Amino acid sequence: MNAPRFASDLGWRAGLFAWLLLSAPTLCLAERPAAAAIASANWQATAAGFDTLARGGNAFDAAVAVSAALSVVEPESSGLGGGGFFLLHRAADGKAVFVDAREKAPAAASRDMYLDAAGRPQRERSTNGPLAAAVPGLPAGLALLAERYGRLPLKDSLAPAIRLARKGWTWSDKNAAMIAFRAPQLQHSPAARALFLRAGKPPKPGQRMRNRDIAAVLERLAEEGHAGFYQGRTAELLVDGVRAAGGIFTLEDLAGYRAVERAPLRFDYRGQTILTAPPPSSGGVALVGLFQILAGYPLDRWQRVPRLHVAIEAMRRVYRDRAIYLGDPDFVQMPMDMLLSPHYAAGLRASIDTTRATPSDTLPGIGAGPEGRDTSHFSIIDAEGNVAAVTQSVNLPFGAAFVAPGTGFVLNNEMDDFSVKPGVPNAFGLIGEDANAIAPGKRPLSSMSPTILLGSERVAAIGTPGGSRIITMVFQGLSLLLDGKSAAEAVAAPRIHHQYQPDSVSIEPGALNAEESAALAARGHTIATADQTWGNMQIVLWNLATGAVEAASDPRWKTVGGSEVRAQDAVYR
Ligand code: DON
Repeated sequence: MNAPRFASDLGWRAGLFAWLLLSAPTLCLAERPAAAAIASANWQATAAGFDTLARGGNAFDAAVAVSAALSVVEPESSGLGGGGFFLLHRAADGKAVFVDAREKAPAAASRDMYLDAAGRPQRERSTNGPLAAAVPGLPAGLALLAERYGRLPLKDSLAPAIRLARKGWTWSDKNAAMIAFRAPQLQHSPAARALFLRAGKPPKPGQRMRNRDIAAVLERLAEEGHAGFYQGRTAELLVDGVRAAGGIFTLEDLAGYRAVERAPLRFDYRGQTILTAPPPSSGGVALVGLFQILAGYPLDRWQRVPRLHVAIEAMRRVYRDRAIYLGDPDFVQMPMDMLLSPHYAAGLRASIDTTRATPSDTLPGIGAGPEGRDTSHFSIIDAEGNVAAVTQSVNLPFGAAFVAPGTGFVLNNEMDDFSVKPGVPNAFGLIGEDANAIAPGKRPLSSMSPTILLGSERVAAIGTPGGSRIITMVFQGLSLLLDGKSAAEAVAAPRIHHQYQPDSVSIEPGALNAEESAALAARGHTIATADQTWGNMQIVLWNLATGAVEAASDPRWKTVGGSEVRAQDAVYR
């Protein structure tokens, strides 16, 4: 493995040039990618991944390295105090697995724990402070990956993150902005305040940062594996800190946590195989629904407006099903056969009027919300063709804005991903019913949708943060890849979203021109142009005919400026 072949935050021209170079046609079908590719939300995490590949690791070791590095340098988005989903595809035997490292409600959690005596939701309690936290899953996911799928000891894959934490790094513009955004809540946790604020003020971009506590936590995980986090010193620090601040974690909650291997959802669309996230993610079920509904229309012969119309109508219907049926598969019976059936999709299609919007209130009923800059997705292809698509989160920026003293990481506020009361929207405006009610030991329903395309011409890994919008973003990005677009085109394209309730199509600025907006409004759609963009999509793509690989990070959040080694999306030979 030599120097970086290209680093596209040098500019799209450099990326395009290198992509063209790597795409030069060869005579036979390449069995292996010509290079390894990583796209993540932070260049230091991407560098940690390549470091691990260079030491003989595979894509799964690199996934451990990128994940752990993100825990250190991007604490607003994800980390050891949160959870994640790892979708893996192994080249040697074609094995596909979904590692569910989603957080779990503590044993003392109860259905109405965020309601006051009058039954009113107390949003503050489900979003800020240790009571908002579910038992972290990410460290268990890292240990499982290293043990069952990696080639290197966990210790080696965690080494780059430990180095970053011990030697220090510099806060980026994004880190600084997110700390400023959550400073009012971070102030309340003395350990969070000491870590992220300087004399009560957010740091400036470029300021150096070190985190010895998280380094020590990572070292115990590196030495002892799973038990090095879920038992002993780290578990004690976590439980003591949480309970002293009013939380309900116990040592048993931690000792009992396990990451779970599940079968990915697998479906075919236009002859291409897609692997995606099963419950407790709602993403895969919704993606299957979206593609199956749309498969019944001659989309390639239609203009953009009718295509958008039916896509919006499909979104409305699959988000309604999400609200009604989906939850943790270890707790609820879900009508999966029905939801995944092409006949069910045909029924939903039949309910779509191709000329008029169906008001959401006219569908038997069941709420929507802001985009996110937290949660993190990364995608990896190694030079053997192993693929990892990983989305990890602490939910809202800096999760519960709480750090247990001595741990160096924020705890998630994924408890807010449960339906705290039927029909009451969560922070993302998502509503739910009994299937996603709180219960001890249960995983909250997620929208995180790491997805792998195993196409006849190309293989790709895709995903993004963005709360409820994750699913529609992955759907649009994947659709573009299926249409033959490059990874860079797919991450950059403007996005639209509908989630059943509220009954409006939200669009990124520039996603529709005036004529298209008017045409959709004439069909009965309410169009709401967002004042901001959303998502932070990361795609890697391998062209099977040429062996060429491409990595692309969402331009919306890409590090601006910097040298070649600062690539978030890079291809190394
Ligand atoms: O699991 C979920 O669906 C959410 N906790 C994800 C949160 C998210 O993407 C935040 N926004 N960027």
